[in-house]
Amino acid sequence: MHDLSLFTHADVRWAAQNMPLLLDTDLTPLNGLRIAICLHIEPKTAVLCALLIEAGAEVWLTGSPGTTRQDVADWLITLGVHVRAAADDDAPRLEDVLSCDPHLVLDNGADLIRALLDKGLPADFLGGTEETTTGALLLRQREDQPRFPVIVINDSYLKLLVENRWGVGQSVVQGFMNATNRMIPGARATVAGYGPCGRGVAQTLRQLGARVSVADLDPYRRLEAALDGHQVGRLDTLLAETELLFLATGQPDVITDEGIAALPDNSVIAGVGHYPWELDLRRLGPPTRLGARSGGSVTDPAASAAVAVDERSARLTALHETYEQPDGRRITVLAQTRMINLVSAGGNPIEAMDLGLTLQARSLALVATGAAAPGVQAVPQELDREIAETFAATLEMS
Ligand SMILES: NC(=O)c1ccc[n+]([C@@H]2O[C@H](COP(=O)([O-])OP(=O)(O)OC[C@H]3O[C@@H](n4cnc5c(N)ncnc54)[C@H](O)[C@@H]3O)[C@@H](O)[C@H]2O)c1
Repeated sequence: MHDLSLFTHADVRWAAQNMPLLLDTDLTPLNGLRIAICLHIEPKTAVLCALLIEAGAEVWLTGSPGTTRQDVADWLITLGVHVRAAADDDAPRLEDVLSCDPHLVLDNGADLIRALLDKGLPADFLGGTEETTTGALLLRQREDQPRFPVIVINDSYLKLLVENRWGVGQSVVQGFMNATNRMIPGARATVAGYGPCGRGVAQTLRQLGARVSVADLDPYRRLEAALDGHQVGRLDTLLAETELLFLATGQPDVITDEGIAALPDNSVIAGVGHYPWELDLRRLGPPTRLGARSGGSVTDPAASAAVAVDERSARLTALHETYEQPDGRRITVLAQTRMINLVSAGGNPIEAMDLGLTLQARSLALVATGAAAPGVQAVPQELDREIAETFAATLEMS
């Protein structure tokens, strides 16, 4: 069993205690290498960073906007991690971490890899890994395909099953409940996008008693949703009956003006997808800020007005903002559609992230040792299966 004394931050230690796969991973191939990382900075990813430092890597870390936990970032600095992020950042500090001339990148949304492709590769660059569905898509759409190995963690069946479906399903609904205190049983919920994430959210909502509808452009996914027992239809049509809307398409600007006009009074919109771009907030007009909540405590209108003095910081921390429409309907948006599980539920469950970060670490070690071919590629199947065996064993009767 791995010694936990490295993890002197209480929440990071709790995460580490529940991450047996990652703690058992051999990180020695990463000794002496400079690694640029873009991740949500929170206890589970801090476990990985701490283990990389312990293995002798030099770690440069930036975070995704709105999800950095300052106390965790500060703790990582004490370990020697070069943290280039703060809780109120509104963009990852890509240039800062890439200034280390990394040997490897561990990416989340392909921000680092795309910045490297644009600016040119460091001399000793070996390659990297990409975590997300959206990041992989952005890389594969490029004309200048990477000529170095990029292992896409999201292409692992295991990751899609455990993290995107079951992990995201639980934590998104948990984040929604934390943020709103609304009742799920009986609520009319719509999930836009029925990939593994949308499917997990829909399933969790229904298990709690919501009446769930699903929209997807892909006929196979619509069929799957119908066979899973959900009501299926065109998004604009479903919105007229939607109290709670979850955006899980990963695509920009999927809600039209007609869709907004159809939403009933007091509907709530939450983001699941990686970027907060599925709803263009400009379509809603300015937020009224009445009853805006920040950091989990309800504030009165006067206090909200005070918060609005620093508009940028207020908008980054506002948990919900209500947009009053010209016809009087109120539409509330949670955290500007940033991933609600990260904003108000501590992210995906620890076990799901143990799996995802183990896939990351093992894949990075493959790139470091030259065992991966150039190009954007899936996690090797034998590695996926080996980790699946170990993970399944943790859930089986002995
Ligand atoms: N919140 C989290 O913790 C978390 C974790 C993993 C992945 N993600 C992100 O969640 C998003 C979804 O991931 P996934 O693996 O389910 O992706 P996916 O690409 O497999 O599924 C998305 C689905 O949305 C559908 N779609 C696209 N445009 C649409 C539109 N305009 N209307 C209706 N449906 C549309 C697609 O047909 C597809 O079936 C991605 O952005 C991914 O990066 C978030």
